[in-house]
Amino acid sequence: GGLTTIDPGYKNTGSCVSEITFLNGEQGILRYRGYSIEDLAEKADFLEVAYLLIFGELPNKEQLDKFHSDIKKRSVVDEEVKKIVDAFPKSAHPMGVLSSLTSALTAFNPESVDINSEEEMYNAIVGILGKFPVLVAWAMRKKQGLPLDYGDNSLGYVENILKMMFKQPNEEYKLNPIVVDALDKLLILHADHEQNCSTSTVRIVGSSHAGLFASISAGISALWGPLHGGANQAVLEMLEAIKEDGGDTKKYMAKAKDKSDPFRLMGFGHRVYKNFDPRAKIIKVAADEVLDDLGVQDPILDIAKGLEKEALADDYFVKRKLYPNVDFYSGIIYRAMGIPTEMFTVMFALGRLPGWIAQWKEMRERKEPIGRPRQVYIGKNSRPFISVEKR
Ligand code: CMC
Repeated sequence: GGLTTIDPGYKNTGSCVSEITFLNGEQGILRYRGYSIEDLAEKADFLEVAYLLIFGELPNKEQLDKFHSDIKKRSVVDEEVKKIVDAFPKSAHPMGVLSSLTSALTAFNPESVDINSEEEMYNAIVGILGKFPVLVAWAMRKKQGLPLDYGDNSLGYVENILKMMFKQPNEEYKLNPIVVDALDKLLILHADHEQNCSTSTVRIVGSSHAGLFASISAGISALWGPLHGGANQAVLEMLEAIKEDGGDTKKYMAKAKDKSDPFRLMGFGHRVYKNFDPRAKIIKVAADEVLDDLGVQDPILDIAKGLEKEALADDYFVKRKLYPNVDFYSGIIYRAMGIPTEMFTVMFALGRLPGWIAQWKEMRERKEPIGRPRQVYIGKNSRPFISVEKR
């Protein structure tokens, strides 16, 4: 008895108080620890933003250097993990590989599981920040049949990620500053988004005092779905399909509006943003710049722009306040960088990692109780058991 109201999808349920990310969906405002997303995307680098989200303040030079050096010290992934990577079929989706490998890390780093002191927490945090990019790179290299390498500690955090992903055997890898800047910006834009599906998952799994790596692995699984982070891959596949189909955007608009058709315009709509997604605004401009700087001409970008224009002028989308979200243009930039479509959601996970960590840390530090929602039971009433012969 007792409980009579439910809120499917938690559309109007607050699960916690938080000091990390401020989001105003009506006005399209997003701030990490009080700093606007526009300022951070323009002026900060990803590692600074990670520090800010996790520890609450922007680091000074000394703090940032120590943070980076602690991350590097813990960036070694056990050799044995390579055997796990080898055992996956080449066709495996890199998100499945990434969540499995992240979970496997708990077995190789048992000290990360039971966290009871500030020091243990710090070590787990720099540990996952160090090892995660290696797993990301391996998930991609596995698909491409490339050897699994380790990082280059002389490089910056984001530069190192790029080199680990793209380095070809017997070839020197030359960093392109345009690509480094663009990736830095994309990762910052994805770094946190308060109590979204994957972050809520990380907090709820962590609330049972499961370890950090296990909680993050659960978050990766949540992010994978096409209604959440998987939308960036789905957007590109949709744009490709429209292109293959002769570029008829109107046909796909009609499909998206047809309630008997499950098709949705991927990269459109958001649970909280009902005016615009501030991240999408920044990414749209970045997509233009990056493609221009890299000298890439992609007809997909024109299709995306055409689709956006039509949707913004369409009653169906206007009435439901559906705007392009963060996933609508990000894939076009990833593609221009040479990142395979199946890796897009992995890139989202890489960006979201500091947010997941910060939210998990806050949950533990606030000593939040175990997450355990209630329900309203609508099943059968009490009935007598009938043995199998008599059924
Ligand atoms: N295309 C067509 N119709 C849509 C779309 C869309 N992309 N999004 C929402 N609608 C319609 C929906 O059918 C419903 O119509 P009606 O009121 O007539 O039944 C109305 O708009 C409200 O949608 P909802 O599904 O009740 O809204 P929600 O808050 O539960 O879902 C969403 C939000 C993001 C899951 C949804 O908009 C969606 O599926 N979008 C496409 C997938 C996508 O781009 N996801 C990425 C989200 S942003 C980043 C992230 O989380 O990773």
